Amino acid sequence: MEKRLSSLALPLLLVLSVFSNGRSVDSTGTQDGNEEWGYVQVRPKAHMFWWLYRSPNRVENASSPWPTILWLQGGPGASGVGIGNFEEIGPLDTDLKPRNSTWLQKADLLFVDNPVGTGYSFVEDEKLLVKTDEEAATDLTTLLKALFNRNSGLQKSPLYVVAESYGGKYAVTLGLSIVEAVQKGELKLKLGGVALGDSWISPEDFVFSWGPLLRDVSRLDSNGAAKSNSKAGEIKQQIEKGQYVDATDSWSTLEDIIMESSNDVDFYNFLLDNGRDPTSMSAMELSKGNKMKRYSWYLSSKASPGGGGGGLGNLMNGVIKEKLKIIPKDVSWGGQSDLVFTALTGDFMKPRINEVDELISKGVNVTVYNGQLDVICSTKGTEAWIQKLKWDGLKIFTNMERTPIYCEGANDITKGFKRTHQNLHFYWILGAGHFVPVDQPCIALKMVGEITQSPAAA
Ligand SMILES: *[C@@H]1O[C@H](CO)[C@@H](O)[C@H](O)[C@H]1NC(C)=O
Ligand SMILES: *[C@@H]1O[C@H](CO)[C@@H](O)[C@H](O)[C@H]1NC(C)=O
Ligand SMILES: *[C@@H]1O[C@H](CO)[C@@H](O)[C@H](O)[C@H]1NC(C)=O
Repeated sequence: MEKRLSSLALPLLLVLSVFSNGRSVDSTGTQDGNEEWGYVQVRPKAHMFWWLYRSPNRVENASSPWPTILWLQGGPGASGVGIGNFEEIGPLDTDLKPRNSTWLQKADLLFVDNPVGTGYSFVEDEKLLVKTDEEAATDLTTLLKALFNRNSGLQKSPLYVVAESYGGKYAVTLGLSIVEAVQKGELKLKLGGVALGDSWISPEDFVFSWGPLLRDVSRLDSNGAAKSNSKAGEIKQQIEKGQYVDATDSWSTLEDIIMESSNDVDFYNFLLDNGRDPTSMSAMELSKGNKMKRYSWYLSSKASPGGGGGGLGNLMNGVIKEKLKIIPKDVSWGGQSDLVFTALTGDFMKPRINEVDELISKGVNVTVYNGQLDVICSTKGTEAWIQKLKWDGLKIFTNMERTPIYCEGANDITKGFKRTHQNLHFYWILGAGHFVPVDQPCIALKMVGEITQSPAAA
């Protein structure tokens, strides 16, 4: 009886220590030290959850230290700890079986539920949700200070911020915030680079790409494309006038127009119908309103034997929550996600091209990669915003020949192209939609090895 009581009391004590004693970091992990996780209180009553995996392939080499990847999911409100980890690049899939294409082979992986309110992260008061990308970057920098400044091992490992979708906007604002904090001596961290995968850097360029792209691949006719372009024109004007909330509403309307004219194209892969993609992630990536219904449909349809039986939500609120122990009982994974999106409505349509320019001019390695079949963050739109960079290497970059890229063992099949000039790197990934590591795991893994320059495993 007594024994039972004490085993019940233990998790409770842990939780209390997280939230009541004022320490900035509280964490726990697996016995072997290969996984560590915890909460950082980034502001009073605003708690951010992180999960760090150490690679079994780690090579200790002082002249080329083993890298760490910080993965930033989009949404806004989509969970890196859930989606990025279990559905895209982490060591286990949603059936909790090993993923042979895990990026853990190339780097240690740090997943963060960013911004607060996402996944297991939570706020005790809705007013504490972030309203801008910069506020998100400030919270993330606070988290990095808490993790890195006390850990000399992490300090030696170059950090690569790798983002997907809306995560790209966090990544570039975070990159600048990291550079500043490091210069001020407030953060002990070596920034290796920033990588933007199918990232929402310039909403205007993306909405203008949709009509022409879908028309070229026969998914819209000229009438559909004209309707799309007309709405995109309205969005451009709203952005120019700084009417960002209206622009977000128009964006949502434009998606509906395109869905109607295309008989429900999948915004994450133009070869597919919406909701028919067996591997594509939550439609919640860059979605809201009635699109949330498709998201829950997706989650419940992804019920996987052994993975909790009811999709990612059940997995994260079931066995994973049990394993982690420190998630407060009344915090449900994804419980505040919708609120995260709503709070960012006024920043959602703001471009972050200038931030990319600033990172390049500060000498940070910036990699852009894009899936060929993506609609929402199309390659066409990405190339359009790249052309708006003020970077003086742009002309040379644009005129360079591309290098074809292949996967090991299949050197006859072109998997993509890359181009590098100075510190801007671009990968075109063929046969992938929005979720590049899911659709093309082999070439994504190879690319990430190149980006992080992981020392070769012996
Ligand atoms: C360490 O890294 C350097 C540079 O990448 C490489 O030349 C060297 O062979 C590596 N040493 C070991 C012991 O792996
Ligand atoms: C992973 O396994 C699948 C088949 O199960 C195989 O087709 C693929 O090449 C493997 N990928 C890697 C990176 O080993
Ligand atoms: C940028 O990446 C290249 C390799 O592509 C590397 O040689 C260089 O050191 C990196 N620069 C910085 C500042 O990290």
